[in-house]
Amino acid sequence: MDDIESLERDLAALAAEAQDALASAADREDAIQIKNRYLGRNGQVAALMRVLRDLPNEARPRAGQASNACKRAIEATFSSLMERIAADELARRIEAERLDISLPARRPHTLEPNPLRAVEQDLIDIFAAAGFEVASGPEVERDFYNFEALNFPPDHPARDMQDTFVLEGEDLLMRTHTSPVQIRTMLAYEPPIRVISPGRVYRVDEDPTHSPVFHQVEGLLIDEGVTFADLKGTLRYFIDACFGLQARARFRPSYFPFTEPSAEVDIGCIFCDGDGCSVCSHTGWLEIMGCGMVDPNVLEHVGIDPDRFSGFAFGMGVERIAMLRHRVPDIRLMFGNDLRFLRQFS
Ligand code: PHE
Repeated sequence: MDDIESLERDLAALAAEAQDALASAADREDAIQIKNRYLGRNGQVAALMRVLRDLPNEARPRAGQASNACKRAIEATFSSLMERIAADELARRIEAERLDISLPARRPHTLEPNPLRAVEQDLIDIFAAAGFEVASGPEVERDFYNFEALNFPPDHPARDMQDTFVLEGEDLLMRTHTSPVQIRTMLAYEPPIRVISPGRVYRVDEDPTHSPVFHQVEGLLIDEGVTFADLKGTLRYFIDACFGLQARARFRPSYFPFTEPSAEVDIGCIFCDGDGCSVCSHTGWLEIMGCGMVDPNVLEHVGIDPDRFSGFAFGMGVERIAMLRHRVPDIRLMFGNDLRFLRQFS
């Protein structure tokens, strides 16, 4: 009897000692070590219980109960301690990661729309309102579409008007203008045809007013009875919409292999109002596009009967229009994506 009572006392004392030790645990690891020191396989509780084999059989259940009570007491203290540690950690993390939502927001660098895109879209909208649909073609083009079908015979000096990037060993080149889309459209559709075709074009050229890659918008209209008067009327409508009713314009005779007659369109210089300045080379006029009646040879090339149908075409440089509208002196600014430049248009 003495033995079992002393075991019970020892176990209760051990539980109290373990609970005290846990109460002063520094952290999670410390707590686990303390717990193992008492409850582990070679822990202090197990050590006390070694007396079990010396106890009489009838005392053993009591010893087992006492041991269980001791373990439960230590475990209960341990688990409430762990909960407290977890709660403390969470509270510390919340405090550390706290966001001050009253701080003023920082403005990100937003993408400014490039003025070129905006002008291109304006040009599309202006012609779409007049019933033109958008057509497109490849930038890597066959000689046939870029030159031959447009009435530039092989070795014709007019090919020199456009310094071409040729893809070696192939019949391929970088298109020098959007006019090949005229050919592709006429081959694909029957008249009446009314399309505009915006896109990138390439020429071996670079100075303040020329870039090796630039953009054009091509126009093509084919129907019965189309005359130069229709061309003039359409382009005057365009100039009104793009540069305003007060803009002066003139048609100047010119030459393109694929139009006959051909013209270049000038508007009164917007920098000097026609007085003459360095931008307009003291002529008072600025060229904005080429145009003309589609040459009957071209119609024949694409299988359209020139006795029944006629039409006109025009082509303009988007950079040129954008530079004139926004008074930008160097075309390369359009491609530099310098935010200081782009922000002026937002
Ligand atoms: N394709 C010509 C050029 O790039 C412009 C043009 C288009 C002229 C349509 C007449 C008709 O110079």
